[in-house]
Amino acid sequence: MPLTQCDTIKVDLKSASIEGDNRSYDIYVGQRLIEFAGRLIKPLLKRPFSIIVTDDNVAKHHLANLQASLGNQEIASEAIILPHGESSKSMRMLEDLLEQLIAHGIERGDVICVLGGGVIGDLAGFAASALRRGVDFVQIPTSVLAQVDSSVGGKTGINSPQGKNLIGAFHQPKMVLADIDILDTLSERHIKAGYGEILKYALINDLEFFNWLLENGKKLVDGDKLARQYAVVKSCQAKANIVSQDEKEMGMRALLNLGHTFGHALENHTNYSDRLLHGEGVAIGMVLAFEFSSYLGFNNGGDITTIKAHLEQIGLPHDLSFNGLEPLPSAKRMLELMRQDKKTEQGNLTFILAKSIGQSFVEKNVDEQKILNFLHAKQFT
Ligand code: GLY
Repeated sequence: MPLTQCDTIKVDLKSASIEGDNRSYDIYVGQRLIEFAGRLIKPLLKRPFSIIVTDDNVAKHHLANLQASLGNQEIASEAIILPHGESSKSMRMLEDLLEQLIAHGIERGDVICVLGGGVIGDLAGFAASALRRGVDFVQIPTSVLAQVDSSVGGKTGINSPQGKNLIGAFHQPKMVLADIDILDTLSERHIKAGYGEILKYALINDLEFFNWLLENGKKLVDGDKLARQYAVVKSCQAKANIVSQDEKEMGMRALLNLGHTFGHALENHTNYSDRLLHGEGVAIGMVLAFEFSSYLGFNNGGDITTIKAHLEQIGLPHDLSFNGLEPLPSAKRMLELMRQDKKTEQGNLTFILAKSIGQSFVEKNVDEQKILNFLHAKQFT
């Protein structure tokens, strides 16, 4: 059976790699990809064996299909099923996963299949980077957020009680398989939250994509497969383009953090719980980033109404009245939480700001008093 309706995007790390070190890889985006996973993964394997790392929620829906697909290619597989949820991105769970992988007899030449959303992708990718000084892995992302962002680009890691993703490594996957059909099993809230990351690419540098989202975003959220595939492809292309030029975030990759300085701080405030999903934090964070840009005089604020109206249409939160955030932290506490951002340099926060939709930029050394004044001007006391 041919691989139908599938787009392929290359993450081309040749320019970022030392000579002879070919870590470039393909992202496949399409329908029924799990069925073809065995066929696509087989050429990467040194022996007909793989370990699948997944979580209990995802396993219920997709593990048997993936194992059948591997089995059809005579690839034996073992599965490690971890608890779902952000709290799995912990040191304790990392240790548990590493021990289980070793107990399953993983060899340095093996390829781990990582089947899950952002949490499993980040955790298992990090375990792969550490195990036997680096084992290969394939990402099979099962959430919108993972398909459009976290499975691509090699950022892996876990959370520390002091902040999100503070412990981690860059470790690129060998391949990414984004199966659009898998998104059918997600809740409406998780689809919408993932949409926050899709919108991010448009706001960063693609006004045309933003206009497409104004037309098609609702359709995508409501389940239109072709709209979903187009948006995942556009997002992966945008990310692949940036990562290919700046794998280790020495410069422009920081743009991918639009909305994240505010968003991560709000997620920390809500203990990374279901009160605020990552994409919801990013949506509110992007609005705050545009408002802060306007506060600093970089734009006239005209786009803010358009962005908020679009988020409203999609059903995503766009301001601090979102009830999951209550009670809001003080401005001082918010600043403290924002300082945990990995872009902080010599104590100074780095912000991703915007002149307009599609024209974002990196701004360092923003005066701390201005940040506090802005936070006070919002609802932070
Ligand atoms: N999610 C931001 C990045 O991968 O750089």
